Formats: sequence, structure tokens, C-alpha cells
Amino acid sequence: MVLTRKQIGVAVVGSGRIGTHRARLAAQHPGVRYLAVSDVEAARARSLGERVGADLSSASNEEVIARPEVDVVIVSTPEPAHVAPVLQAVGLGKPVLVEKPIAMALEDADRIIGAAEAKGVEVRVGYIMRYKRQYFLGKQQILEGRLGRIIGGAGRVYNSRAQAFEILKRSADATPVVDVLTYYVDLACWFLEGSRPVEVVARGNGLVFKEAGYPKADDVHWALVTFDSGAVMSLGVCYALPSQYPTLGQSARLEIMGTEGVLFFDEDHKENILYSEKGYPHAYVPDHNLKMVFLGSTSSGDWSLDHMYGPIAEETRSWLDHLTTGRPCLLATAEDARQTLEVTLAMELSARTGAAIRLPLSEGH
Ligand SMILES: NC(=O)c1ccc[n+]([C@@H]2O[C@H](COP(=O)([O-])OP(=O)(O)OC[C@H]3O[C@@H](n4cnc5c(N)ncnc54)[C@H](O)[C@@H]3O)[C@@H](O)[C@H]2O)c1
Repeated sequence: MVLTRKQIGVAVVGSGRIGTHRARLAAQHPGVRYLAVSDVEAARARSLGERVGADLSSASNEEVIARPEVDVVIVSTPEPAHVAPVLQAVGLGKPVLVEKPIAMALEDADRIIGAAEAKGVEVRVGYIMRYKRQYFLGKQQILEGRLGRIIGGAGRVYNSRAQAFEILKRSADATPVVDVLTYYVDLACWFLEGSRPVEVVARGNGLVFKEAGYPKADDVHWALVTFDSGAVMSLGVCYALPSQYPTLGQSARLEIMGTEGVLFFDEDHKENILYSEKGYPHAYVPDHNLKMVFLGSTSSGDWSLDHMYGPIAEETRSWLDHLTTGRPCLLATAEDARQTLEVTLAMELSARTGAAIRLPLSEGH
């Protein structure tokens, strides 16, 4: 393979928590020669622009996406605001990295896929867990056949309600299933690549989020996903742990069973403890100073000494490497993300109706 060495211009749309990580990482990447940032709140774009030394900051997404110096676009807006900037960038022939979930409705995901196909443009979706070292290693073991045929497995993810409320405040429809369990649906489908989810049965329950005015969000949700190979995955989420619980992000377990091997991932992060009378500033929840934290449990990763460690750093660098050198990357495709969205929507539908949901979802769901 011959590597090229291109220099590119990047626009980051949405200058919030995740847009800030992406812009800081892009600013440090050797292949990036131009950087623009935008946000509906002009002050946020300006302050991020100053922080990363961007060439342009603007309150207009349209302006930064259309700039001739911009070759590729990162969309880090809230969940319901992904589609418009993605379609604009794709329409201009510019490759996109959009945060998960690709969209909130299958029709919107289909519009993105259709536009990208028509223009021959690549759309990738930020399922950062693929870039966690352990899962990356796991994928390699599966590809090398160490598990034999995958029979099934289990995954569950927990977090404190403090972070869930930040997500729900931003987008009330971004429930723990659509917004968080989605990572584990993506991992399950990635590990089971080549077989397709065909049925979902799920049950949910909760008081905490419903009493706080978020009727669509379950406190606990458990689902069984069956694949056409016969593999069965049990996947669940509880983002309603008490707000002082020491995790700073996802505390997870993921287990994959095959005919000749198993993978057991312990991602609860209880092994690294920081306790400080001065408190620890939560990266996602403003003014949420926990005295005891599981250090390193922030799901996207952590900045220390102006360097970022963690899956969002690996993922952003890998995508920029891909675009500047032609090296393949492992980010989810728009089609992968559409399938994942379909499974999470089916989970919510099954929990709501009590029915077993066959996939593909019929129109109207
Ligand atoms: N990959 C990850 O690790 C990860 C982690 C958390 C969230 N996310 C995803 O990233 C996205 C953003 O989450 P966040 O935590 O950064 O949210 P956030 O609220 O911190 O940031 C969103 C920003 O977008 C701005 N905004 C709102 N509407 C906009 C629009 N139409 N155009 C431009 N800017 C707009 C807001 O003013 C805000 O600054 C979501 O899709 C979320 O699911 C990804």
C-alpha cells in the first residue's frame, strides 16, 4: 500500500464537550493545516476557537462547512441536530465524522446513506468503544478464529444519574438505550460481523427519570437480541445509579462466548481509585465534585498534561490518519450505524409494547 501525505482543512460543528475534544485533537494532528469551529452559541465557538488556535470560529454551521479551505467535517451537535450539517457536508462532497447515534429516526439515517452514496462520500460514525484497546484486541482474536463460532454473550453498562440528566437535558429523546446502550449494540454487531440482528425482546422499568419529567427514559432496561446465525446477546443499561456513585462514565462488562473460546471484558474500572477531600471535577457534569472517583473511567478518555488518552483520541487520530494517508480505519460506517439505530429503536418498542420485534422494522416505527 502506498501512503499519501495530504494536508487537510477540518470543520468541527458543535463546540460543546465532544466538539471540544475533537477540535483539540484535530489541532494537534500533523495533517491538519486549517481548522474552523462553529456553534449555535457564538460565544462557545469563539472560546473554543481561541483555545485551539482555530483559523475561523462562527455561529453559522453553513459558513464553516462551505469554506473552501475545509475538506472534511466533524459533526458534534446534540443528537437531534446531526442530520442537517451532515447532509450539507455530504452535498459538498466532504467526508464526515458524525457522533453517535447517526440520527434519531431511520428515515434520516436513510437520507444520509442515500446522499453519501449519490456523492461517493464517506460518512463515519463515532462509536468510540471500537477504539478501546481491549475491544480492539478482542476483535483481532475473533478475526483470527480463537473463539470459533460465536454463540452469544452479554453486556451491561452502568453510570450515575448525574450524567444521564446532562444527556436528557440536552436531548430528551436521547434515552440511555438510544444514546448509550447503542455503543454495546455496535460492539456486538462488530464482533458478530457477517451475521445480522433479526429479533429483539426487551423490558424496561424506572421511576427516577420519569419522575424528573423524562417519560421515554427507563432507569433499567434489559434486552435480548437474536442474530440470524442463532447467536443471542443479552444487553442492558442502567444510567440511574445514585449521583455520587464514583464512576465518571461507563462502568461495563462485556462477555462473548464462542465454540472454542471466550472473551470476558471487565470495564467496571474499580481498580483505580482517587479519593480527595478537595473533590474531582467531572468532565461531563458541571459543578459535580466527587470526593471518590474511579480514575480513568471517563468513557471518551481524559486530558492530562495536554495529551489525551482514551478511545475518542484514538478514534479521531485514526480517522484523520485515514483521510490524510489513505490508511484504513475501523470507524463504524453509516450503514453499521443505521443497523445499530434500528436495534435500539426496536428495544424501546419492545419494552413499550411487550412484543417481540422482528427486524427489519416495518415502516411507521
Ligand atoms: N463519542 C463520545 O465519547 C461521546 C460522548 C458523549 C456524547 N457524544 C455525542 O456527541 C454529541 C454532542 O454531545 P456533547 O456531550 O458534546 O453535547 P454538548 O451539549 O456538550 O455540546 C453540544 C454543542 O452543540 C451546540 N449546538 C446545539 N445545536 C446546534 C446546532 N444546530 N448547530 C451547531 N451547534 C449546536 C450546543 O450549543 C453545544 O455547545 C451527541 O451526539 C452525543 O451523543 C459522544
